[in-house]
Amino acid sequence: MELYSLSKIRKFIKEVEENPLKFWWETRKMIKWIVEPKDVAEGDPPKIKWYIGGKSNICWNAIDVNLDENKDKVAFYYMNENGFTKAITYWDLFYEVNRVSYLLKELGVKKGDTVSLLMPNIPEALYFALAIYRLGGIIAMHYLGLSPQTFAERLNDSGSKILVTASKGFRNGSEIRIKDYVDKVLSEYKTPVEKVIVVGRGFSDFNLVQNRDLLYEDIAPKGKIYVKPEEIESNDPVIIAYTSGTTGKPKGIYSSLAYIVASTWALKAVLGFREGEDVIWILSDLGWLTWGGNIHFIPQKRLTGVIFEGFIGYKRELFSRVIERFNVNLVWMPTTLLNMLKSLGEESVKAGDISSLRLILNTGEPLNPGTWQWLRENMPDVVIADSYWMTEYGFPIAATPFGLGEIPYKPGSAGLKFFGVKVVDDDGKPLPPNQKGYIVLSMLNPAMGRLWNDPDMERFIKIYTSRFPNYVYTGDYGFYDNDGYLYVLGRVDDIILAGGNRVGTMEIEGILVSNPDIAEAAVVGYNRNNNYRVAAFIVPKAGINISIDSVRNYLRDKGYSVDDIFIVRRLPKTKSAKIMRRLLRALLSNEPLGDISALDDINVLNELRAVINK
Ligand code: WTA
Repeated sequence: MELYSLSKIRKFIKEVEENPLKFWWETRKMIKWIVEPKDVAEGDPPKIKWYIGGKSNICWNAIDVNLDENKDKVAFYYMNENGFTKAITYWDLFYEVNRVSYLLKELGVKKGDTVSLLMPNIPEALYFALAIYRLGGIIAMHYLGLSPQTFAERLNDSGSKILVTASKGFRNGSEIRIKDYVDKVLSEYKTPVEKVIVVGRGFSDFNLVQNRDLLYEDIAPKGKIYVKPEEIESNDPVIIAYTSGTTGKPKGIYSSLAYIVASTWALKAVLGFREGEDVIWILSDLGWLTWGGNIHFIPQKRLTGVIFEGFIGYKRELFSRVIERFNVNLVWMPTTLLNMLKSLGEESVKAGDISSLRLILNTGEPLNPGTWQWLRENMPDVVIADSYWMTEYGFPIAATPFGLGEIPYKPGSAGLKFFGVKVVDDDGKPLPPNQKGYIVLSMLNPAMGRLWNDPDMERFIKIYTSRFPNYVYTGDYGFYDNDGYLYVLGRVDDIILAGGNRVGTMEIEGILVSNPDIAEAAVVGYNRNNNYRVAAFIVPKAGINISIDSVRNYLRDKGYSVDDIFIVRRLPKTKSAKIMRRLLRALLSNEPLGDISALDDINVLNELRAVINK
């Protein structure tokens, strides 16, 4: 890709917006096809179909096509919290993925079948995921730590007859007994699961249920084997990522082969990776769509990926040690983990030699200017880029597209507004720059996901396109400036009224975390006894005592105010490390908590109750 300046990138975005189909047709070249598509698209959104007649296979793209020149190249490094490492070459990947494919095929997995994965970040997760793709199957990803009921509902929704799991996992110094949990779920709930494949990981302290459970180490073919990759069609589903709504009903977002084409383009644009050269570390657990990057573009573009099992905050120096160990060039990680690095202090980025690192890409929540500043000061040679996505869209809504060129950083913004993104008013009328409104997306994008078990797209239309016809509604509130930079001010549900003005919660949080004593903050509006109030939850930096008054004064100096301030040890977060403001609001207003399946650690609720009711 040619390197552009800001004005050239903006011109390019405008050209794509004027003729999106031309751009998407060119983009088909991002993957290799077994049968070339005849046409770019057919039909109208949201039911539009892409890359008509095209056929390919993701596993074949990832391994087979480049195997000859890459046999000895490392495809992935694995590392855990205790520094244990393993390298997997492209030949290893080919060998292992074929063995797993054979096994799954023997168990009856065929094109169009879903297979559920509940696994820690271990090499076998990659082998199984790629093997499912090899057979033309669909990966249904599940997070570790869901409530048994939620997991059972998702297994039912996905319709998987096969569940692949591991005996246990390791995180933050503790052991997670995954197989015991699976046994509990399958004995207490009715699910379609007929066979459970367990990766034993060298342990035997778990149960195997007769006629249901199979130990991977026992049943994997002993030697070399080849399974032919199945051709799938451009619009066939490939992966399902579950997101949690406010109700308990599972929302499985599926992406298709056409999504792989578009997201490969996008990742090249935002990361600026050098094909065949770079080492990339995606900090994501299996379950988040981001995890799919490991199998979607890293091997396809002959890169080397790093997977890390555990929690990088477990030891202060871990983050920089992983980079040092594998000469990582690019890191893609959630905003909340970047904030955590800042709260761990300099050592988190300085203990190990990180001179190989060129760029950190942030995703998940707005990157606050204070964290950005801290990262720049402590890693002056590393570019901090941003990208704003949502699972449903599978494509950047805004980004600092480092692969297209360098653009100036603007504090608080997620970067340039990408193709077809608009800010609209209550009536759906597009707004000019600098006016706050709802962020909406054009549906002319092959990366747009769909809902699983929603063949006529009725549910999709109800949830995403009924509020603003012709657009997909993000549920986010924000504005863009004269240069086309997009600012996310908060989720629309989280918008608060302050002095009669609509203010985004993330806006006030940004101010709060610019205070050097504050590690994290969450702001919510709530009703108590028919009074509308705004509350701020503050997590001080480790070892720092901060008073409610000093926070109040700090905000006042910047021209903001809130009604209540709570100093807490931590915030409620989802398993993908997003702050769950909705729960804070429910706790404050004494309302039902709703679906808490996404909550990472349920104990946080009692901690918060204790502080709120003090
Ligand atoms: C928010 C995560 C600001 C946004 C990839 C969006 C962001 C929601 C950013 C989607 C960012 C994500 N800056 N806000 N860089 N990235 N968001 O589906 O509110 O878990 O709608 O996908 O996260 O969350 P999801």
